[in-house]
Amino acid sequence: MSGTSQFQRILVTGANGLLGQKVIQLFSRDSRFDVLATAKGETLLLDDVSCGYSSLDITDRKAVRELVKNFEPDAIINCAAMTHVDKCETEKEACWKINVDGVRHLAEISKALDIKLVHVSTDYVFDGKNGPYREDARVNPISYYGKSKLASENETLASGPDFLIFRTMVVYGLGTGTKSNFAIWLVQQLKDNKPVNIVTDQIGNSTLVEDLAEAIYHGVIKNVHGIYNAAGSDIGSRFDFAVKLAEVFGYNKKLISPVLTASLNQPAPRPLNSGLIILKAEAELGMKFSTTEEGLIRFRQQLKQAGLI
Ligand SMILES: NC(=O)c1ccc[n+]([C@@H]2O[C@H](COP(=O)([O-])OP(=O)(O)OC[C@H]3O[C@@H](n4cnc5c(N)ncnc54)[C@H](OP(=O)(O)O)[C@@H]3O)[C@@H](O)[C@H]2O)c1
Repeated sequence: MSGTSQFQRILVTGANGLLGQKVIQLFSRDSRFDVLATAKGETLLLDDVSCGYSSLDITDRKAVRELVKNFEPDAIINCAAMTHVDKCETEKEACWKINVDGVRHLAEISKALDIKLVHVSTDYVFDGKNGPYREDARVNPISYYGKSKLASENETLASGPDFLIFRTMVVYGLGTGTKSNFAIWLVQQLKDNKPVNIVTDQIGNSTLVEDLAEAIYHGVIKNVHGIYNAAGSDIGSRFDFAVKLAEVFGYNKKLISPVLTASLNQPAPRPLNSGLIILKAEAELGMKFSTTEEGLIRFRQQLKQAGLI
């Protein structure tokens, strides 16, 4: 389903996170949009974007309602979440409060004021027994994070017909003051000639954050509805990703040792044979997602430009 976008006023939550930063950069560069960035902190971490800023904690129902009523957005893009998978397993209450209650607050007000709600979810809604998955595959989360994100999808669905959910996985990229991600950590280790143990049995796509932001941008402009997978265009193991990164960056591949997920004893179980089939997004949003190699080449250029490598 699609139609021409009438969206002009865009409210972004979690704007100080990795995805949030790329989303506000993309939308505020387009003069058709009036962007209000919101995040938990007092200030916006990015200083090169032309958009408004308000502090907003999505767990505060009253604050969400007041701010949304004041700004009257046409669409809300929710980039706020508790994203640390193991922390979600050990701090379940905090996880549910942010990932589920927070989304319910956004969904309720979106439904009441006829606002499109754009939300971001994960391949962790699947059990990883038979990936890669299409959008309509049977969900069965095995971690608390996955359960909370599935519940967040359901809260979004409950907001009415005008919702858009992007499921993504292994998102990487360079942000300003954001927490580390798999690729950033790998670069730091390999650059310093430190050995790393990388799992060979977690299979899926890796996603350059700019591609995910672009999918959201096209989804809003084309005014599509429903669930879309949005992730890098090829599938491999984390180990394959690490080796490809070493090749693209010119680091020593011998520093990378293969291990199995079970040996890491992480609090949260991981879906192993996962992955997201992105044909629907590519066909309906009219965009191409980067391959691992293309994404890593772009990532390397960004790190070089920032003087980090
Ligand atoms: N990163 C991945 O590999 C990945 C994979 C699949 C799906 N996703 C999904 O993609 C979305 C974006 O993730 P990301 O990679 O950009 O993660 P991120 O960098 O951790 O960004 C999430 C942001 O949400 C903020 N936040 C947390 N609680 C909040 C609250 N109560 N109110 C307002 N903001 C709050 C965080 O602030 P603090 O840091 O200060 O808490 C952080 O800035 C999330 O929905 C995530 O579940 C990510």
